[in-house]
Amino acid sequence: MQQPATNPNVAAMIEMLRGFPAQCEAAVAIGRDFDPGRHEITNIVMTGLGGSAIGADLLRAYVASSATVPVQVNRDYELPAFVNERTLVLAISYSGNTEETLAAWQDARARGAQIVTFTTGGTLARESAAAGVSCCRVPGGLQPRAALGFSFFPLLLTLEKLGVVPPQATAIEDALRIIRQATAHYASEENLARDLAQRLEHRVPLIYGSWNAVGVVAYRWKSQINENAKGIAFWNTFPELNHNETVGWSGRAELCRDLGVVLLRTPSDPPRIRRRMDLTRSQIEAQAPVNEVTAEGAAFLAQLFSLVVLGDWMSLYLALYREQDPVAVYAIDAIKKALAEG
Ligand code: F6R
Repeated sequence: MQQPATNPNVAAMIEMLRGFPAQCEAAVAIGRDFDPGRHEITNIVMTGLGGSAIGADLLRAYVASSATVPVQVNRDYELPAFVNERTLVLAISYSGNTEETLAAWQDARARGAQIVTFTTGGTLARESAAAGVSCCRVPGGLQPRAALGFSFFPLLLTLEKLGVVPPQATAIEDALRIIRQATAHYASEENLARDLAQRLEHRVPLIYGSWNAVGVVAYRWKSQINENAKGIAFWNTFPELNHNETVGWSGRAELCRDLGVVLLRTPSDPPRIRRRMDLTRSQIEAQAPVNEVTAEGAAFLAQLFSLVVLGDWMSLYLALYREQDPVAVYAIDAIKKALAEG
């Protein structure tokens, strides 16, 4: 396994992950202090990409059963056609310089939408200030994907302040407690995150979420494996995968040989979902090894974050086993640079 001494970026990513509980506490404080203004709205569209969009994805799925207006996520240069002056657009870019998010922000302006920006600075902060758009500033210095606390909690608290979701104080406290506990545990010598990484070292990970926002966590695991461990990975979620991907497992065995499945479960999974997962496991375990993890925590938000923290540490350990730099994302940087040049 690669050691911190051999690559300063290893120590840097460990620091970012160890700092996640403090980041989430700071993010909650920022969200509580931030005044998004008054907004009479009929729908909400959050727009962003990559590490800045994952918080929006998690939020959309988490509030789906309680939000009083439709909440969507956009990852394109343009916003959906329904966006108008009664839409609240939350534009999220950690750097403040992502071209798709800047274009969507301009599109929101052109349609007269109400806008709140979440960023560390960059063009987005400058243009928001110039246009008199509310801007929630978060601290810089992290990789955007390691700043999930900043791209989730201030947005959740904004929705709470607008009366779109019920009070979140208890759920947030529970989540913060689990984030602290899980971080301390996965930073230790022997733990499930290391163990899983070792089991996935020579395999293509396939991450299956149980249901609802756990599907978003599966996507988070896949993206963290891509960016931290520099590996191809795939994800899917129940119950949808039982209507297509399930059949893929009944084909040629040699094409499944190098896969390694991780089932993400939570104590909140409905009984029918649990049954689906058990049945699926028995259908696929002859083809590839199946690992299972179950979230910790009482409230659903805490359970989601317990799995996020596990996936983040697992992807770090996977980078170390595979001798990859867990911080650098040269492929993303190269595409952004080439596009900036024309
Ligand atoms: C880098 C990362 C990327 C960025 C994405 C958008 O750590 O995770 O997915 O988040 O390229 O950039 P920002 O977040 O600055 O808008």
